[in-house]
Amino acid sequence: MRWDHLHEDRILILDFGSQYTQLIARRVRESHVYCEIHPFSLPMSAIQAFQPKGVILSGGPAGVYQDQAPLPDTQLFSLQVPILGICYGMQVMAHQLDGEVERASRREYGPAAIDLTRESELFHDIEDRDVRVWMSHGDRVLRLPSGFEVLAGSENSPIAAMADLARRYYGVQFHPEVVHTPCGKKLLENFLYRICQCRSTWTMKSFVESSIVAIRERVGADQVICALSGGVDSSVVAALLHRAIGDQLHCIFVNNGLLRNDEAESVRSIFRDHFQMNLIYLDASDLFLEKLDGVTDPEKKRKIIGNLFIELFEKEATRLSNVKYLAQGTLYPDVIESVSFKGPSATIKTHHNVGGLPEKMQLELIEPLRELFKDEARMVGRELGLPERIIMRHPFPGPGLAIRTLGAVRREDLQLLREADSIVLEELEVGGWYNKVWQAFAVLLPVRSVGVMGDERTYDQVIAVRVVESVDAMTADWARLPYELLQKISNRIINEVKGVNRVVYDISSKPPSTIEWE
Ligand code: XMP
Repeated sequence: MRWDHLHEDRILILDFGSQYTQLIARRVRESHVYCEIHPFSLPMSAIQAFQPKGVILSGGPAGVYQDQAPLPDTQLFSLQVPILGICYGMQVMAHQLDGEVERASRREYGPAAIDLTRESELFHDIEDRDVRVWMSHGDRVLRLPSGFEVLAGSENSPIAAMADLARRYYGVQFHPEVVHTPCGKKLLENFLYRICQCRSTWTMKSFVESSIVAIRERVGADQVICALSGGVDSSVVAALLHRAIGDQLHCIFVNNGLLRNDEAESVRSIFRDHFQMNLIYLDASDLFLEKLDGVTDPEKKRKIIGNLFIELFEKEATRLSNVKYLAQGTLYPDVIESVSFKGPSATIKTHHNVGGLPEKMQLELIEPLRELFKDEARMVGRELGLPERIIMRHPFPGPGLAIRTLGAVRREDLQLLREADSIVLEELEVGGWYNKVWQAFAVLLPVRSVGVMGDERTYDQVIAVRVVESVDAMTADWARLPYELLQKISNRIINEVKGVNRVVYDISSKPPSTIEWE
């Protein structure tokens, strides 16, 4: 483990496999305190090296009495730092400190009211006698460990919150990290500021400053290359590195002919003209489209595009001398070692990225955003002056429009799809929906359908409109757009895009569907 921010007050979050663990971390970070998530089994030596000002034990699906229940090293309780146990984390605390946990006869799930029965720093300034909280548990603490007192109770959980005030150990049965616990933010802040005495020094301004120093130190006089896609992550990485090392950064942008309207132009104007970065712009549209000619299988398309990208990128990079590093926009959720009781999720689609590059080219990786959540990366982008349309951009798949024109990829279809797609995006922006949804796009279906225009029968193409809400793309639901907006999108596409006579709206959720159609 390495910690680049040793000057920060740090909180350690031990993960027991809760779906909410990342939410805890985001809440802590929003309170401007640095934190990291690690598996519950993190060895004591590593915990000590981290020097946390406090520890949070997450929730989790297990029961403390189960065989092989996830339990931390009991020496955790001799660290002499404050500990907050949430749900399963509270039960761990009770179990390991001579209390007793009762096995569930039934689950309590949903909103509950708790009664505060004793004053404490944890509930400081949380006035209401009846506090609304979110419960999601089976087991509960039956008998307090010695030294503990009850802080709050609810109808179903007489020990809804407990504490050993002297040792600064706190446990809550409910989930303060979810929005359904309105006082949760305040409660976590009380833990951070009042109990752990953390200062609120984690800001994106300070992150940018310390990153620049660290990048300069590491890179020295060497050169760095970066694959710029125009997406949020690679754009923020490029802007940060450019601020740190200026002309030692070389960005490579490959136009694969599968981009949306004006995309290549806008990347060029932002990064080359506005930021004056060294930008190598490679128009390889013809090459990509030739290789894709007649290929209908989605996975084959992905492989062709991914491999060709790597080949071109590598060729371009070897023209530069003294390149030692490859910069990538890896974010914190990609590096969290997650505790999974559900088993590894299968790779459903091969996601194209530049993962194969560093080994092949013997480059060292620079991943300056490794510690950031996506919203923090966006704030860094703002800090560095990136335009809002890049910062708030929806994710766009590496294989681009190739997986949105179903079956074989044809030049004329791509043009038609671009026109339809830009109408979808334009109307979402005008209607104020763009920033409310995760992704929005048009898909060209490989069917023709009958229509009538004027007095004439038509036999034309069909566009599907896909607009989804999601938090991490693992699950997604179709956006409930107003009928008027859907009507406008449909009218405009049919009237303005020659060759389309029908528009359908995709109302499938993920799972069992996926966000993309291929
Ligand atoms: P699915 O379709 O699997 O998509 O629900 C989940 C998220 O991943 C994006 N996606 C891709 N991104 N290369 C990428 O870089 C790909 O091959 C690819 N396929 C899907 C998709 O847009 C969504 O955000």
